[in-house]
Amino acid sequence: PNAPVLITFPDTDVLVRDLATFIAKAQRDSIDRKGRFTIALSGGTLPDMLKGLIGNRHIKWNHWQVYYVDERVVPLDHPDSNHRACVEALFSKVPIPQENIHAIDTTYLNDLEELSDAYEKDLIREFAQKDAARFPVFDLILLGMGPDGHTASLFPGHELLTEEDRWVAYIEDSPKPPPQRITFTYPVINHAARVVFVATGAGKVDTLQSVLDRPAEGLPAARVKPVFPGQLYWFVDEAAASKVAYP
Ligand code: 6PG
Repeated sequence: PNAPVLITFPDTDVLVRDLATFIAKAQRDSIDRKGRFTIALSGGTLPDMLKGLIGNRHIKWNHWQVYYVDERVVPLDHPDSNHRACVEALFSKVPIPQENIHAIDTTYLNDLEELSDAYEKDLIREFAQKDAARFPVFDLILLGMGPDGHTASLFPGHELLTEEDRWVAYIEDSPKPPPQRITFTYPVINHAARVVFVATGAGKVDTLQSVLDRPAEGLPAARVKPVFPGQLYWFVDEAAASKVAYP
């Protein structure tokens, strides 16, 4: 695989601006090539980091297809919903067609297996037959990293760390509440064309050092290794990167 690209920003304002520029370029390349842009978003502070896209005249919202890397199994308007966080931070402020946002909707389905199967089918519709394409290739996947090194809803020591087949899985035992979640698996994350982690703040110092300088420790975030020619980027601030020796 390609080595991760680490970009350290003096503060989050600059990070937010450059992340918007990066996303705008990724969508232009994707739309030029195939007329659409497939992107997957995370929760946490990530939705707020997307505010540089608001009012950005280079963004062609009609061509975006938005998925969620993971979602808490709660109603779409619940304060814990990643979809709600993204709507509040971004989608309510930009002209994206609602049908281009693929939420994980618990209104009619709340059985975890049915929910994850339904979301996998949604991905299959977007990325053609599961048999034809072994795994979907997202143009861009945006991830956060918890202080324990988790990313998506892939937690340290969990059996999903070794899932090789499913595209979408569920967990009922998240160490961080709420316990029930739907999540992309590593094969999906690692087949993306571009994966960007955003990690800011002093609370990430030790975890970031482990992931970048001692990846063999195997924290969940360190297992994100896009298959060639996919490229992994780390967008971090100086507070998070203060102990990192990489590259
Ligand atoms: C969750 C959180 C979590 C979060 C990371 C990074 O679902 O429990 O959303 O996955 O994304 O802990 O958090 P920050 O982006 O807030 O640093």
